[in-house]
Amino acid sequence: MVAGGPIGAGVGGARAVARCNALGLAPYTDMADGLFRAYLSPAYRAAQATLAEWMAQARMAVRQDAAANLIGRYEGTTPAAPALIIGSHLDSVRDGGRYDGPLGIMLGIEAVAALNDAGRRMPFAIEVYAFGDEEGSRFPAAMLTSRAVAGTLDAAALAVVDADGVALADAGVDVGAYLSAARRSGEVLAYLEAHIEQGPVLEAEGLAVGTVTGIAAQVRYRVQVTGQAGHAGTATMPLRRDALAGAAEMILAVERIAASAASDLVATVGRIEAQPGAANVIPGAVTFSLDVRAGEQARRDLAASEICAQLQEIARRRSLGVEVALVHDLPASPCDPALVDVMDAALAAAEQPSRRLVSGAGHDAMVMAALCPTAMLFIRCRGGVSHNPAEHVDPADAQIALTVMSGFIDRLGGSV
Ligand code: GLV
Ligand code: MN
Ligand code: MN
Repeated sequence: MVAGGPIGAGVGGARAVARCNALGLAPYTDMADGLFRAYLSPAYRAAQATLAEWMAQARMAVRQDAAANLIGRYEGTTPAAPALIIGSHLDSVRDGGRYDGPLGIMLGIEAVAALNDAGRRMPFAIEVYAFGDEEGSRFPAAMLTSRAVAGTLDAAALAVVDADGVALADAGVDVGAYLSAARRSGEVLAYLEAHIEQGPVLEAEGLAVGTVTGIAAQVRYRVQVTGQAGHAGTATMPLRRDALAGAAEMILAVERIAASAASDLVATVGRIEAQPGAANVIPGAVTFSLDVRAGEQARRDLAASEICAQLQEIARRRSLGVEVALVHDLPASPCDPALVDVMDAALAAAEQPSRRLVSGAGHDAMVMAALCPTAMLFIRCRGGVSHNPAEHVDPADAQIALTVMSGFIDRLGGSV
């Protein structure tokens, strides 16, 4: 790009999308046919190595912190000034899409590359964070890595083990040092995250981008149902204590309670496992996940307690045991009102209509809000489809997002 030209102009959006596509293939996925990039897996490490090259090409100093986040830093004109962090996550859900997470990292790199190409530095450093664990798809925890950076992670939360029995401590990080990934609030000016919308609103309204005003509250549990394993051919129906049949009734109760709220309340059982897991054995134990969200915390909590009461009632009636363990609890997280205005101004300068939205999906921004003011930009995705291999982003929309992000950075730096 031409030195001195407007930052964000050019082809950075298309390159950001192309890089996400490249990371959707081997060796950047742990799945043979599809994308699954689990925190600290071989695919995760391969993606970090390539990302480090892309950061270095944009003239960033690259390092890894104690939580295995990858960070690229582009110095500002005032070295000691608090930095702007631009971040998102490198991990994915199982059989996920290519843009949920990585696109925000790639656009951060492009925003820096555009500054570097123009020979420009802001009054603050820009640090691009590629967070490791946002989805919680490996360990029974989520946002471990941004919580470490924000300084809200408790050491006890590090005692987690994945489905293969591998403890976090044996997965390639030093859990004794993990919390040293924390940043001090005085070091950070603000946090900016660009992310696909993962919903249908922008597309329905013919908009490429929108300003996020806040993120819904979410709570996640692990539910364990215990019955009695037995012979599928000999145990008569009235005598059975079938944990899977009980879990099925519980899951329908979850759906009924969420649907009857007729609001933005949502509840999902996304993972279930029955033991011992044989066609001729009555399931003796079942574990399933439960995720409950709402824009307003009180509404979420009311639904969660109604669901938990129903689970107990169903278990009692069926002579089953049930244990509900809290996995994580993230309060609703408003974006900083002043930064929301800055984002709207950047949208207007990029000739994009103003559209404000609340995020039902969780993001690292909701954790980073404990450390600094946060801002988020949503990018249209086709059909609102996400957490699905069909996830799709138009490179032209990514380019608009990059222009808006660059305008946001300029405004934050007082150059507009
Ligand atoms: C992350 O994608 C979440 O909202 O669970
Ligand atoms: Mn996701
Ligand atoms: Mn995401």
